[in-house]
Amino acid sequence: MALELTGVDLLTETITTARLLLRPWLRADAEDIVACCNDPDIANWLPLLPSPYTLPDAHTFIADMAWAQQRAGTGLPLAMEDAATGHLVGSIGIGGITNVRGAEIGYWVAAFSRGRGYAAEATAVLAAWAFGHGLHRVQLLAATGNVPSQRVAKRAGFLREGVLRGAHRSRDGVPRDMVLYGRLSTDEPPSDIQRR
Ligand SMILES: CC(C)(COP(=O)(O)OP(=O)(O)OC[C@H]1O[C@@H](n2cnc3c(N)ncnc32)[C@H](O)[C@@H]1OP(=O)(O)O)[C@@H](O)C(=O)NCCC(=O)NCCS
Repeated sequence: MALELTGVDLLTETITTARLLLRPWLRADAEDIVACCNDPDIANWLPLLPSPYTLPDAHTFIADMAWAQQRAGTGLPLAMEDAATGHLVGSIGIGGITNVRGAEIGYWVAAFSRGRGYAAEATAVLAAWAFGHGLHRVQLLAATGNVPSQRVAKRAGFLREGVLRGAHRSRDGVPRDMVLYGRLSTDEPPSDIQRR
């Protein structure tokens, strides 16, 4: 089933959760992105991100990747902001929303904001947003060694569907096995995470 986006402008779309505002990236986020992404866990588990991560990298991400996807209608990359303080706490995005083979969610959370359930909350609500707009399936991939990300998937109502052997590569080129998680619009949503 295809995404139905009549009346939705992906460039301005925002989503609220109990504690977070998921909103479009701003040029003003660039320095915060740099501070967050120069983190060993992000460098390890997201090997496609530059490392070290510089200010030009952040501007390229905002304008050439995030806004470009929104403009093309292929994805919704959003900043995760603490709704109470207005501070950037992470990144979440859904890509491939026009792919017949399924849309995919990806995320990172700033080291200083981890362990509070932000990633699970944002993931559950972004999946619900996609289902609300007609998508039937959303998936995500986490390396077999990335236990926190697998916990996020489970808490966000995704089911472990299998292991894709050697599907991604680490930063130094070593093939990594990836766990595939999927959630269908007909699956039971997590009872403790709601959209606000
Ligand atoms: C994965 C990541 C986004 C999780 O963000 P978060 O907001 O801390 O996630 P949550 O608080 O929603 O949940 C974290 C879960 O991992 C668990 N966890 C955290 N650190 C852990 C560790 N070292 N070992 C095992 N479990 C761990 C927490 O207990 C929690 O599980 P629970 O809800 O069952 O108790 C964050 O660790 C991160 O940004 N990592 C680097 C980038 C990355 O891996 N991105 C995902 C690529 S697939």
